[in-house]
Amino acid sequence: GQAERGGYPHFMLKEIHEQPRAVRDTLSGRVHPSGEGVILDTVRFDPQWIQQLRAVYLVACGTAYHAGLIGGRLIERLAGIPAWTEIASEFRYREPLVDERTLFVAISQSGETADTLAAMREAKRRGARVLAITNVVGSSVAREADDVVYTWAGPEIAVASTKAYTTQIVALTLLAVHLAELTGFTGPLGRKNLLESLRQLPEAVEAALHVEEDIKAIGDAAGGWRDAFFIGRGLDYFAALEGQLKLKEISYIHAEAYPAGELKHGTLALIEQGTPVIALATQPALREKMISNIEEVRARGATVYAVVRRDLSGFERYARQTVKLPVVHPLLMPVVAAVPLQLLAYYAAVAKGTDVDKPRNLAKSVTVE
Ligand code: G6P
Repeated sequence: GQAERGGYPHFMLKEIHEQPRAVRDTLSGRVHPSGEGVILDTVRFDPQWIQQLRAVYLVACGTAYHAGLIGGRLIERLAGIPAWTEIASEFRYREPLVDERTLFVAISQSGETADTLAAMREAKRRGARVLAITNVVGSSVAREADDVVYTWAGPEIAVASTKAYTTQIVALTLLAVHLAELTGFTGPLGRKNLLESLRQLPEAVEAALHVEEDIKAIGDAAGGWRDAFFIGRGLDYFAALEGQLKLKEISYIHAEAYPAGELKHGTLALIEQGTPVIALATQPALREKMISNIEEVRARGATVYAVVRRDLSGFERYARQTVKLPVVHPLLMPVVAAVPLQLLAYYAAVAKGTDVDKPRNLAKSVTVE
């Protein structure tokens, strides 16, 4: 009843609001107090093996796959190791090049998803070291992995994943920094600023929740949408993928995420007068490119809703509404950008009167292949 939902009308809304706490718990005890590094004491990589490491494969289903896309990018950028993210049911059947010099990362909220588990067993059989990122202590992936990083999000009841997703990204960030410390890779991105920003992330997620009233207005309008497009570049494209999945899962509105630069190769043909386009712009380096992509859809009549990092200017003139996000390190922006997209899906579903916590045809944990 209402009591177990903490006064919220749905578990999903409760879980969206739990994210500042959940992110804090994921980080707890894992960022060195000096701000110099991370502590992942459940991960025991052999430093010599790390030097020989050829690739990291991140494998998952659904929302966890979207967290994996972000995690893979962070591992490449921070640790300098090639990283590939794949959907578990695809990975299994394509004879992947996985061997002893591979780190395989299984990401699963429940730790029981059949395809993820089977992919993990396949990787193990091929000699990979297997690390699990999961929310459920003692789950199958946790038991069968060589190393486990728990997300500590607390129980997630709503079928549509929210706090499990943001905490998976945080756990993957910790893993990426840990790998960077072991490889000694010093890429163009200093780790110090990232760690500083990571420590402030719970407050930033809290601040991101302040957009709820603005989003509710968009969500009410979204109740009447038939289709929606989510566009972004770089990490914003991955954030867009999760945004469109949330909308589809609970509001049943057809939605598609597209890398903004790829629009003109096909999808632009679908943009008409009034087509809703949610444009994400959280990456300073991609600001100008995003503005020109927004001009492209505006010129075809799209109604643009911009979700931008607060300090990136120039979007208001194209957007019906501009949702402003707190400033964190660019690599961490997907965590704060998740909040308005979750709320948009939530309020669209409420406007349509769907069963928010238990959408039709979907299950919280898919234990069949
Ligand atoms: C189901 C759920 C999704 C979830 C996916 C993977 O489809 O409805 O919300 O992302 O399974 O679940 P897992 O427990 O492996 O993260």
